[in-house]
Parts: sequence; structure tokens; C-alpha cells
Amino acid sequence: MSKVFVDLGVSVDGFVAGPNARPGNPLGDGGPLIHRWMYQTAGFVRNLGLKGKGRTGPDNDIVEAVTARCGSFVMGRRMFDEGEVGWPENAPFHGPVYVLTNDAREPWVRPGGTTFYFVTDGLASTLSQAREAAGEKDVRIAGGADVVRQCLAAGVVDELHLHIAPLLLGKGVKLFDGPLPERSELEVAQVVDSPGVTHVSYRIVK
Ligand SMILES: NC(=O)c1ccc[n+]([C@@H]2O[C@H](COP(=O)([O-])OP(=O)(O)OC[C@H]3O[C@@H](n4cnc5c(N)ncnc54)[C@H](OP(=O)(O)O)[C@@H]3O)[C@@H](O)[C@H]2O)c1
Repeated sequence: MSKVFVDLGVSVDGFVAGPNARPGNPLGDGGPLIHRWMYQTAGFVRNLGLKGKGRTGPDNDIVEAVTARCGSFVMGRRMFDEGEVGWPENAPFHGPVYVLTNDAREPWVRPGGTTFYFVTDGLASTLSQAREAAGEKDVRIAGGADVVRQCLAAGVVDELHLHIAPLLLGKGVKLFDGPLPERSELEVAQVVDSPGVTHVSYRIVK
């Protein structure tokens, strides 16, 4: 059955972006260091249509596994605003992306199969559209922190995948910085250690 999963890079002190994140400064000051492990992987290079082949290995296996399972994506408006100016013509999602926002806008169709749909009638509607579009595949909650917290608080997340970068950012956009369920139990599903990152996957006990 189709799953809803969160997949995020975080610093050891729990930030998903550094300070001053905005369009033109995506992920904020120092924030791109969170994803340093990912930038050279073959899957990332291919998804962004970059030159070169990229590296294979355990980090790339994780990127490829995530790419293969995604049938649709959900993201917040602030994540979209940062990406809109920085993503290349060939946006990296190659599928439907549902952007939670309060500003209505026509769908934005990109070459390479990515279409951004702007949903203004709330989380439940967004998830329902994303689930339907995903079919047998899974729905990835891509971020940012606000949208991830809402999904966790609503109890709709099946799996939480954190890629923990060996980095203290000190300031920025904190993942767990707002309302969450009073208590959630998680099961460790997988831990993959590599020199540049620790990948930890949890199943959320419902
Ligand atoms: N490290 C990672 O893996 C990772 C992944 C993704 C993003 N990020 C970073 O995370 C940061 C953004 O996170 P964030 O927490 O600030 O913001 P966000 O979750 O990306 O977006 C929040 C915005 O989405 C809209 N929104 C959210 N819920 C809504 C609802 N229920 N109904 C209508 N609109 C809703 C609102 O925008 P409006 O009211 O303005 O329309 C809200 O201000 C960025 O810096 C990005 O680079 C990091």
C-alpha cells in the first residue's frame, strides 16, 4: 500500500536550513552543507540534469531508492519559493508536486515531467491529491519544516528518514520547533553510516 514518508537532511543540532534562507540564498547561510554528501551522488546529478555521472555507493543507493519510490511530492511555499529560482529548467522531481500555500496560482509545468500544483484548501486536500496522483507509489513530504511538522501532528506520516550531516549550524530553520503530537513512538528501520552523513530511517508506530 502507498506510504507517506518524510525525507530530510538535518544538521546534528536539528536545523534543516541555516539563517537568512530566502530565494537567492536557498537553505540559508551554511545550509547547503547539510546536503554535501548528496551533491556528488549519481542519482542527484541525474535528477538535476547536471553534467557528469556522479558517484555510486551507499549514499547513492539511498538517493536512488528514494527516487524510485516517489509517485508525488508535497512541499511548503517557502521551500518552493527558494527552489523556483534555483532549480534548473529540468526540475528535479519528475512528477507532480503539491505546494501548500495561501496564494492561488495556476499549475507550473516544467520540462522533464515536473508539474507544481498550488493547493490553497489545506493539508488534508493536499495529501488526498498527492495520494491519488502517486497511485501505487509513495508520497514524499519534501519539506520544509513547517509542512513536515503539520504532517507529523496530523498523524499521516508512515516513515521518517533523516540524513544527519556532521555539522552544527547553531541558527536557522529548526525541524522540531512547533506543535507536534504529545508523544510518538518510532521504530528504527535502518541506519546507514558513511563518512559524510548518517542516514536514519524510522517507522512511526500508529
Ligand atoms: N534540509 C532539507 O532537507 C530541507 C528540505 C526542504 C526544505 N528545506 C528548507 O526549509 C526551509 C523552509 O521551511 P519552512 O518551515 O520555513 O517553510 P515551508 O514548510 O517550506 O513552507 C511554509 C509555508 O507553506 C505554506 N503553508 C504551509 N502549510 C499550509 C497550509 N496548511 N495551508 C496553506 N498554506 C500553507 C505557507 O505559505 P504562504 O502562506 O506564504 O502561502 C507557509 O508559510 C527552506 O529554507 C528550505 O531550504 C530543507
